[in-house]
Amino acid sequence: MNYIGSKLSLIDFLQESILSVIDYNECDEYTFADLFAGTGVVGSTFKKKGCKVIANDIQYYSYVMNKHFIENNDFIDDSLLEYFNSLQGQEGFVYNNYCLGSGSERNYFTDYNGKKCDAIRMQIELLYNKGEISTAQYYYYLASLINSIDKYANTASVYGAFLKHIKKSAAKQFELELLPIIKGNSNGLVYNEDINELVFKIKGDILYLDPPYNARQYCTNYHVLETISRYDNPILKGKTGLREYSSQKSAFCSKRTVEKVFDDLLANAKFKYIFLSYNNEGLMSLDTIKNIMSQYGKYEVFTTEYHRFKADKEENRKHKASSTTEYLHCLIK
Ligand SMILES: C[S@@+](CC[C@H](N)C(=O)[O-])C[C@H]1O[C@@H](n2cnc3c(N)ncnc32)[C@H](O)[C@@H]1O
Repeated sequence: MNYIGSKLSLIDFLQESILSVIDYNECDEYTFADLFAGTGVVGSTFKKKGCKVIANDIQYYSYVMNKHFIENNDFIDDSLLEYFNSLQGQEGFVYNNYCLGSGSERNYFTDYNGKKCDAIRMQIELLYNKGEISTAQYYYYLASLINSIDKYANTASVYGAFLKHIKKSAAKQFELELLPIIKGNSNGLVYNEDINELVFKIKGDILYLDPPYNARQYCTNYHVLETISRYDNPILKGKTGLREYSSQKSAFCSKRTVEKVFDDLLANAKFKYIFLSYNNEGLMSLDTIKNIMSQYGKYEVFTTEYHRFKADKEENRKHKASSTTEYLHCLIK
Protein backbone atom coordinates (compact mmCIF):
# COMPACT_ATOMS: atom_id res chain seq x y z
CA MET A 1 0.00 0.00 0.00
CA ASN A 2 1.23 3.48 -0.95
CA TYR A 3 1.21 4.97 2.57
CA ILE A 4 2.59 8.32 3.78
CA GLY A 5 5.75 7.56 5.74
CA SER A 6 5.84 3.87 4.78
CA LYS A 7 9.22 2.38 5.59
CA LEU A 8 9.09 -0.27 2.87
CA SER A 9 11.88 1.30 0.84
CA LEU A 10 13.98 2.00 3.96
CA ILE A 11 13.64 -1.43 5.46
CA ASP A 12 17.21 -2.58 4.72
CA PHE A 13 18.67 0.59 6.25
CA LEU A 14 16.48 0.20 9.35
CA GLN A 15 17.21 -3.48 9.76
CA GLU A 16 20.98 -3.12 9.36
CA SER A 17 21.19 -0.12 11.69
CA ILE A 18 19.03 -1.69 14.39
CA LEU A 19 20.86 -5.03 14.25
CA SER A 20 24.23 -3.28 14.49
CA VAL A 21 23.17 -1.74 17.81
CA ILE A 22 21.36 -4.58 19.51
CA ASP A 23 23.73 -7.46 18.78
CA TYR A 24 20.83 -9.81 17.98
CA ASN A 25 20.89 -13.58 17.43
CA GLU A 26 17.87 -15.29 15.86
CA CYS A 27 17.33 -17.34 19.01
CA ASP A 28 17.26 -14.35 21.33
CA GLU A 29 13.45 -14.04 21.23
CA TYR A 30 13.54 -10.30 21.76
CA THR A 31 10.30 -8.38 22.08
CA PHE A 32 10.14 -5.78 19.32
CA ALA A 33 7.48 -3.07 19.61
CA ASP A 34 6.34 -1.18 16.48
CA LEU A 35 3.97 1.33 18.05
CA PHE A 36 3.27 3.68 15.13
CA ALA A 37 2.84 0.63 12.93
CA GLY A 38 0.99 1.99 9.83
CA THR A 39 1.18 -0.73 7.16
CA GLY A 40 3.03 -3.05 9.54
CA VAL A 41 6.09 -3.50 7.35
CA VAL A 42 8.66 -2.90 10.11
CA GLY A 43 7.01 -5.18 12.67
CA SER A 44 6.56 -7.86 9.99
CA THR A 45 10.27 -7.72 9.16
CA PHE A 46 11.27 -8.29 12.78
CA LYS A 47 8.61 -10.99 13.18
CA LYS A 48 10.28 -12.85 10.31
CA LYS A 49 13.60 -12.50 12.13
CA GLY A 50 12.14 -14.34 15.12
CA CYS A 51 11.17 -11.48 17.45
CA LYS A 52 7.94 -11.44 19.41
CA VAL A 53 6.23 -8.34 17.97
CA ILE A 54 3.88 -5.89 19.64
CA ALA A 55 2.21 -3.55 17.13
CA ASN A 56 -0.01 -0.54 17.65
CA ASP A 57 -1.60 2.30 15.73
CA ILE A 58 -4.27 4.87 16.51
CA GLN A 59 -6.00 4.19 13.17
CA TYR A 60 -8.35 1.19 12.99
CA TYR A 61 -7.47 0.19 9.37
CA SER A 62 -3.85 -0.11 10.51
CA TYR A 63 -4.95 -2.19 13.51
CA VAL A 64 -6.77 -4.54 11.13
CA MET A 65 -3.75 -4.95 8.85
CA ASN A 66 -1.45 -5.55 11.81
CA LYS A 67 -3.90 -8.03 13.38
CA HIS A 68 -3.32 -10.06 10.23
CA PHE A 69 0.42 -9.52 9.68
CA ILE A 70 1.47 -9.77 13.32
CA GLU A 71 -1.05 -12.09 14.99
CA ASN A 72 -1.72 -14.55 12.14
CA ASN A 73 1.14 -17.00 11.85
CA ASP A 74 -0.05 -20.39 10.62
CA PHE A 75 -1.87 -21.59 7.52
CA ILE A 76 -5.31 -19.96 7.13
CA ASP A 77 -8.12 -21.45 5.05
CA ASP A 78 -8.52 -19.04 2.09
CA SER A 79 -11.10 -21.05 0.17
CA LEU A 80 -13.66 -18.20 0.30
CA LEU A 81 -11.61 -15.94 -1.98
CA GLU A 82 -13.44 -17.01 -5.15
CA TYR A 83 -16.79 -16.74 -3.41
CA PHE A 84 -16.06 -13.15 -2.31
CA ASN A 85 -14.93 -12.18 -5.79
CA SER A 86 -18.04 -13.68 -7.37
CA LEU A 87 -20.49 -11.74 -5.16
CA GLN A 88 -22.98 -9.41 -6.85
CA GLY A 89 -22.38 -5.76 -5.94
CA GLN A 90 -24.63 -4.24 -3.25
CA GLU A 91 -25.65 -0.67 -2.52
CA GLY A 92 -24.10 -0.22 0.94
CA PHE A 93 -22.25 2.55 2.78
CA VAL A 94 -19.38 2.80 0.29
CA TYR A 95 -21.64 3.11 -2.76
CA ASN A 96 -24.07 5.45 -1.01
CA ASN A 97 -21.38 7.84 0.24
CA TYR A 98 -18.27 7.58 -1.93
CA CYS A 99 -19.63 6.92 -5.45
CA LEU A 100 -21.25 9.32 -7.94
CA GLY A 101 -24.08 7.00 -9.04
CA SER A 102 -25.72 7.15 -5.60
CA GLY A 103 -26.00 10.95 -5.83
CA SER A 104 -23.37 11.42 -3.07
CA GLU A 105 -21.43 13.83 -5.33
CA ARG A 106 -18.24 12.04 -4.26
CA ASN A 107 -16.09 10.19 -6.75
CA TYR A 108 -13.71 8.04 -4.66
CA PHE A 109 -14.63 4.78 -6.46
CA THR A 110 -16.52 3.75 -9.58
CA ASP A 111 -20.10 2.63 -8.87
CA TYR A 112 -19.16 -0.95 -9.75
CA ASN A 113 -16.18 -1.04 -7.37
CA GLY A 114 -18.05 0.71 -4.55
CA LYS A 115 -20.89 -1.84 -4.71
CA LYS A 116 -18.46 -4.74 -4.94
CA CYS A 117 -16.55 -3.46 -1.91
CA ASP A 118 -19.84 -3.17 0.03
CA ALA A 119 -20.89 -6.72 -0.88
CA ILE A 120 -17.58 -8.22 0.28
CA ARG A 121 -17.37 -6.06 3.41
CA MET A 122 -20.90 -7.03 4.49
CA GLN A 123 -20.32 -10.74 3.79
CA ILE A 124 -17.10 -10.79 5.88
CA GLU A 125 -19.02 -9.34 8.83
CA LEU A 126 -22.00 -11.64 8.38
CA LEU A 127 -19.91 -14.81 8.16
CA TYR A 128 -17.92 -13.79 11.23
CA ASN A 129 -21.04 -13.01 13.25
CA LYS A 130 -22.54 -16.37 12.28
CA GLY A 131 -19.33 -18.11 13.41
CA GLU A 132 -18.64 -19.39 9.89
CA ILE A 133 -15.17 -17.84 9.73
CA SER A 134 -12.57 -17.69 12.51
CA THR A 135 -11.03 -14.53 13.98
CA ALA A 136 -7.85 -15.27 12.01
CA GLN A 137 -9.86 -15.48 8.76
CA TYR A 138 -11.84 -12.35 9.63
CA TYR A 139 -8.70 -10.20 9.87
CA TYR A 140 -7.07 -11.99 6.92
CA TYR A 141 -9.97 -11.15 4.58
CA LEU A 142 -10.63 -7.69 6.02
CA ALA A 143 -6.97 -6.63 5.88
CA SER A 144 -6.83 -7.94 2.31
CA LEU A 145 -9.96 -5.97 1.40
CA ILE A 146 -8.48 -2.72 2.76
CA ASN A 147 -5.19 -3.27 0.99
CA SER A 148 -6.91 -4.25 -2.29
CA ILE A 149 -9.55 -1.49 -2.45
CA ASP A 150 -6.88 1.19 -1.94
CA LYS A 151 -5.46 0.27 -5.37
CA TYR A 152 -8.78 1.26 -7.01
CA ALA A 153 -9.21 4.61 -5.23
CA ASN A 154 -9.82 7.55 -7.54
CA THR A 155 -7.46 9.88 -5.68
CA ALA A 156 -4.06 11.43 -6.28
CA SER A 157 -2.90 9.04 -3.55
CA VAL A 158 -4.52 9.94 -0.20
CA TYR A 159 -8.21 10.49 0.61
CA GLY A 160 -7.95 14.23 1.34
CA ALA A 161 -9.70 14.72 -2.02
CA PHE A 162 -11.02 12.67 -4.94
CA LEU A 163 -10.34 13.25 -8.62
CA LYS A 164 -13.00 14.70 -10.92
CA HIS A 165 -12.46 12.11 -13.67
CA ILE A 166 -11.95 8.41 -13.04
CA LYS A 167 -8.24 7.60 -13.47
CA LYS A 168 -6.99 4.46 -15.22
CA SER A 169 -6.23 2.34 -12.14
CA ALA A 170 -9.59 3.26 -10.55
CA ALA A 171 -11.51 2.31 -13.70
CA LYS A 172 -10.41 -1.34 -13.50
CA GLN A 173 -12.90 -3.82 -12.03
CA PHE A 174 -12.21 -4.54 -8.39
CA GLU A 175 -10.73 -7.87 -7.42
CA LEU A 176 -9.92 -8.96 -3.89
CA GLU A 177 -6.33 -10.16 -3.56
CA LEU A 178 -5.03 -11.88 -0.46
CA LEU A 179 -2.13 -10.51 1.57
CA PRO A 180 0.73 -12.84 2.49
CA ILE A 181 0.84 -14.58 5.86
CA ILE A 182 4.01 -13.60 7.75
CA LYS A 183 5.74 -16.55 9.36
CA GLY A 184 7.47 -15.97 12.67
CA ASN A 185 8.38 -17.83 15.84
CA SER A 186 5.37 -16.60 17.76
CA ASN A 187 2.10 -14.76 17.33
CA GLY A 188 2.42 -11.15 18.37
CA LEU A 189 0.02 -8.76 20.02
CA VAL A 190 -1.74 -5.81 18.40
CA TYR A 191 -3.29 -2.69 19.95
CA ASN A 192 -5.35 0.25 18.68
CA GLU A 193 -4.50 3.01 21.18
CA ASP A 194 -2.80 6.32 21.56
CA ILE A 195 0.86 5.41 22.08
CA ASN A 196 1.25 7.65 25.13
CA GLU A 197 -1.46 5.65 26.90
CA LEU A 198 -0.35 2.22 25.72
CA VAL A 199 3.26 2.76 26.82
CA PHE A 200 2.31 2.27 30.49
CA LYS A 201 0.90 -1.21 29.79
CA ILE A 202 3.73 -2.88 27.90
CA LYS A 203 7.46 -3.60 28.13
CA GLY A 204 10.09 -5.26 25.99
CA ASP A 205 13.57 -5.08 24.47
CA ILE A 206 13.38 -2.95 21.31
CA LEU A 207 11.01 -0.05 20.78
CA TYR A 208 10.75 1.29 17.24
CA LEU A 209 9.06 4.69 16.86
CA ASP A 210 7.90 6.05 13.51
CA PRO A 211 5.61 8.98 14.32
CA PRO A 212 4.17 11.39 11.76
CA TYR A 213 6.89 13.93 10.84
CA ASN A 214 4.65 16.88 10.01
CA ALA A 215 1.18 18.38 10.39
CA ARG A 216 -0.55 15.93 8.01
CA GLN A 217 -2.96 13.91 10.13
CA TYR A 218 -3.50 10.28 9.12
CA CYS A 219 -7.13 10.37 10.32
CA THR A 220 -8.09 12.87 7.62
CA ASN A 221 -5.85 11.51 4.88
CA TYR A 222 -7.09 7.91 5.21
CA HIS A 223 -10.68 8.46 6.48
CA VAL A 224 -12.21 6.31 3.72
CA LEU A 225 -10.12 3.26 4.70
CA GLU A 226 -11.01 3.92 8.35
CA THR A 227 -14.71 3.78 7.51
CA ILE A 228 -14.45 0.70 5.29
CA SER A 229 -12.63 -1.16 8.06
CA ARG A 230 -15.00 -0.03 10.84
CA TYR A 231 -18.13 -0.08 8.63
CA ASP A 232 -19.89 1.80 11.39
CA ASN A 233 -22.18 4.09 9.33
CA PRO A 234 -20.63 7.38 10.50
CA ILE A 235 -22.09 10.80 9.75
CA LEU A 236 -19.93 12.28 6.98
CA LYS A 237 -19.27 15.96 6.58
CA GLY A 238 -18.38 18.26 3.71
CA LYS A 239 -17.34 17.74 0.13
CA THR A 240 -14.74 15.10 0.92
CA GLY A 241 -16.97 13.23 3.39
CA LEU A 242 -14.83 13.32 6.53
CA ARG A 243 -15.94 11.27 9.53
CA GLU A 244 -15.57 12.56 13.12
CA TYR A 245 -11.87 12.30 13.93
CA SER A 246 -11.18 14.41 17.04
CA SER A 247 -10.17 11.37 19.15
CA GLN A 248 -7.63 10.32 16.50
CA LYS A 249 -5.84 13.64 16.03
CA SER A 250 -2.18 13.03 16.77
CA ALA A 251 -0.21 15.27 19.15
CA PHE A 252 2.87 14.28 17.09
CA CYS A 253 1.44 16.37 14.20
CA SER A 254 1.59 19.68 16.07
CA LYS A 255 4.65 21.83 16.73
CA ARG A 256 3.01 22.96 19.99
CA THR A 257 2.66 19.46 21.48
CA VAL A 258 5.17 17.16 19.78
CA GLU A 259 8.19 17.75 22.06
CA LYS A 260 6.19 17.13 25.23
CA VAL A 261 4.55 13.89 24.03
CA PHE A 262 7.85 12.61 22.66
CA ASP A 263 9.64 13.32 25.94
CA ASP A 264 6.81 11.70 27.96
CA LEU A 265 6.93 8.65 25.73
CA LEU A 266 10.65 8.13 26.29
CA ALA A 267 10.33 8.74 30.03
CA ASN A 268 7.61 6.08 30.36
CA ALA A 269 8.97 3.47 27.92
CA LYS A 270 10.14 0.26 29.59
CA PHE A 271 12.49 -0.81 26.76
CA LYS A 272 16.26 -1.07 26.66
CA TYR A 273 16.74 0.01 23.02
CA ILE A 274 14.66 2.82 21.54
CA PHE A 275 14.85 3.81 17.85
CA LEU A 276 13.19 6.81 16.24
CA SER A 277 12.73 7.36 12.50
CA TYR A 278 12.53 11.02 11.51
CA ASN A 279 13.69 13.20 8.62
CA ASN A 280 15.36 16.58 8.25
CA GLU A 281 12.06 18.35 7.46
CA GLY A 282 10.12 17.20 10.51
CA LEU A 283 8.48 19.30 13.24
CA MET A 284 11.31 18.50 15.70
CA SER A 285 14.84 19.55 14.76
CA LEU A 286 17.79 17.20 14.89
CA ASP A 287 19.16 19.00 17.95
CA THR A 288 15.84 18.88 19.78
CA ILE A 289 15.61 15.13 19.26
CA LYS A 290 19.21 14.64 20.34
CA ASN A 291 18.68 16.70 23.51
CA ILE A 292 15.47 14.94 24.47
CA MET A 293 16.84 11.43 23.86
CA SER A 294 20.21 12.06 25.53
CA GLN A 295 18.45 12.76 28.85
CA TYR A 296 17.62 9.06 29.12
CA GLY A 297 20.87 7.30 28.18
CA LYS A 298 23.44 6.76 25.42
CA TYR A 299 22.51 8.38 22.09
CA GLU A 300 23.67 7.85 18.50
CA VAL A 301 22.25 8.47 15.00
CA PHE A 302 22.29 6.75 11.58
CA THR A 303 21.43 8.54 8.30
CA THR A 304 20.54 7.77 4.69
CA GLU A 305 19.23 9.72 1.67
CA TYR A 306 15.59 9.11 0.81
CA HIS A 307 13.33 9.96 -2.14
CA ARG A 308 10.30 11.86 -0.96
CA PHE A 309 6.76 10.42 -0.82
CA LYS A 310 4.88 11.71 -3.85
CA ALA A 311 1.35 12.49 -2.72
CA ASP A 312 0.36 14.49 -5.76
CA LYS A 313 1.66 17.15 -8.14
CA GLU A 314 0.46 19.98 -5.91
CA GLU A 315 2.35 18.51 -2.94
CA ASN A 316 5.51 18.06 -5.01
CA ARG A 317 5.51 21.67 -6.09
CA LYS A 318 5.73 22.72 -2.44
CA HIS A 319 9.14 21.06 -2.09
CA LYS A 320 12.34 22.10 -3.81
CA ALA A 321 14.45 19.04 -2.99
CA SER A 322 13.45 15.67 -4.44
CA SER A 323 15.20 13.80 -1.66
CA THR A 324 15.43 14.20 2.09
CA THR A 325 17.78 12.86 4.75
CA GLU A 326 16.23 10.11 6.79
CA TYR A 327 17.55 9.65 10.34
CA LEU A 328 17.38 6.70 12.66
CA HIS A 329 18.01 8.02 16.17
CA CYS A 330 19.01 5.47 18.76
CA LEU A 331 18.83 5.50 22.54
CA ILE A 332 20.19 2.83 24.86
CA LYS A 333 18.30 3.42 28.09
C1 LIG B 1 4.92 7.44 9.60
S1 LIG B 1 3.48 6.47 9.84
C2 LIG B 1 4.12 4.88 10.21
C3 LIG B 1 4.50 4.15 8.97
C4 LIG B 1 4.89 2.71 9.20
N1 LIG B 1 6.17 2.59 9.90
C5 LIG B 1 4.96 1.98 7.88
O1 LIG B 1 6.08 1.64 7.43
O2 LIG B 1 3.90 1.77 7.26
C6 LIG B 1 2.87 7.02 11.39
C7 LIG B 1 1.71 6.23 11.97
O3 LIG B 1 1.50 6.67 13.32
C8 LIG B 1 0.12 6.62 13.62
N2 LIG B 1 -0.08 7.53 14.78
C9 LIG B 1 -0.02 8.88 14.81
N3 LIG B 1 -0.16 9.35 16.07
C10 LIG B 1 -0.29 8.27 16.87
C11 LIG B 1 -0.45 8.10 18.28
N4 LIG B 1 -0.52 9.16 19.09
N5 LIG B 1 -0.54 6.85 18.77
C12 LIG B 1 -0.50 5.78 17.93
N6 LIG B 1 -0.35 5.87 16.58
C13 LIG B 1 -0.24 7.10 16.06
C14 LIG B 1 -0.55 7.03 12.33
O4 LIG B 1 -1.87 6.57 12.26
C15 LIG B 1 0.37 6.40 11.27
O5 LIG B 1 -0.11 5.14 10.85
